[in-house]
Amino acid sequence: MNVLLLGSGGREHAIVRALRKSPGVGRIDVAPGNAGMSAETPCHPVDITNPDAMLELAAALNPDLVIIGPEGPLCLGVADSLRKEGHVVFGPGRQGAMLEGSKSYAKAFMKRHGIPTADFDICVSPSDVSAALAKRRPPFVIKADGLAAGKGVVIADTVREAEDAASSMFAGAFGESGKTLLVEDFMAGDELTLLTVTDGTTLRTLASSQDHKRVFDGDKGPNTGGMGAFAPVPWLDAGLTDRIRREILEPTLRGLQSERIPYRGALYFGLMITPEGAPKVVEYNVRFGDPETQAVLPLFADDFARALLACAEGKLESAPWSIAARHAVDVVLTSNGYPGKYPAGIPITGIREAESMEHVSVLHAGTALKDGRLVTSGGRVLNVVATGDTLEEAIERAYRGVECISFDGAHFRKDIARKIRKGGRPS
Ligand code: GLY
Repeated sequence: MNVLLLGSGGREHAIVRALRKSPGVGRIDVAPGNAGMSAETPCHPVDITNPDAMLELAAALNPDLVIIGPEGPLCLGVADSLRKEGHVVFGPGRQGAMLEGSKSYAKAFMKRHGIPTADFDICVSPSDVSAALAKRRPPFVIKADGLAAGKGVVIADTVREAEDAASSMFAGAFGESGKTLLVEDFMAGDELTLLTVTDGTTLRTLASSQDHKRVFDGDKGPNTGGMGAFAPVPWLDAGLTDRIRREILEPTLRGLQSERIPYRGALYFGLMITPEGAPKVVEYNVRFGDPETQAVLPLFADDFARALLACAEGKLESAPWSIAARHAVDVVLTSNGYPGKYPAGIPITGIREAESMEHVSVLHAGTALKDGRLVTSGGRVLNVVATGDTLEEAIERAYRGVECISFDGAHFRKDIARKIRKGGRPS
């Protein structure tokens, strides 16, 4: 089986590594990929948000399966264009991708299908925002409706702060994405990610995981695209798993079916487990999460390529599916200054040493080749992923891998997965 994968981050590098373990996989082409992936597999420097460019590339490569990694091309309907030309695609069409592309659409979907989530108001003017804030107590949650590269959510402690955030979104801080806003009730609790795969009939779950969004230890500092993740979440017991399935996963699948929304791809459930133990949806994403995927895929214990192909063909029920009873931790190394301004072109050393360690792998995100040397090219640069029979073992191995790597100004959190070390929920 030959595969074409679209994307360029740590998530896509994790997908390449998972596909490589599948015995039936031949050629894996990636567009556009990154420096780390290009050392392992052919990469094509094309614009993956351009449906015509994607059709041209797919026609030239004629893959058995196209996997679309990020939300951008999914929301633009690249999967629809490819399917129209007869390609077998893992990734929802434009209609299914609205679950991530429009937060107001997703919230209305949840409301129609009785799926628990925070109460919300949709606002298209500053006076709508003021009215929505007047109904609530701080902290206030303001969200841009459309895609905003993970930056479109503000938690404000005062009405003034909330109104300022809304004004800057209305003024175009996120382009068209911020012309409609949501004001939501704040949800306290513990966050949990469930990555699933569905063909619209069958829905399978991968290992549970948890992202670390803030830049500094102890969940301090600004939000980032993700500083690390671990899988599975030890406090997710059978009772809560069952409740999530009954109250969230199954109603979501039934909702897609009853509204005749075709869906073949990954469906990400960002959940909040309230202090009372009730699961609620924070957000859907229509793709695998980053950096959760980097920790979750090493625990998939069956033929990943076969499973994704079966999903893309609408035959997911027939695909073997099992998860190893092991643990994985991903520590992200970032450039100095990220998520603000950061330098690029800084030489990186030590990746080979880290990868020579057993149960440790290094996945590239923001790297490039300059004069034959590997250098930084993004905010999130590398993911050091380790597995172990225990969470403790995976943590120790991941940090030993991190110690091997150096580049000027490298930053990483030292507490990935550590707050749940002693077992039990963190709060
Ligand atoms: N980890 C959150 C995301 O992928 O958007």
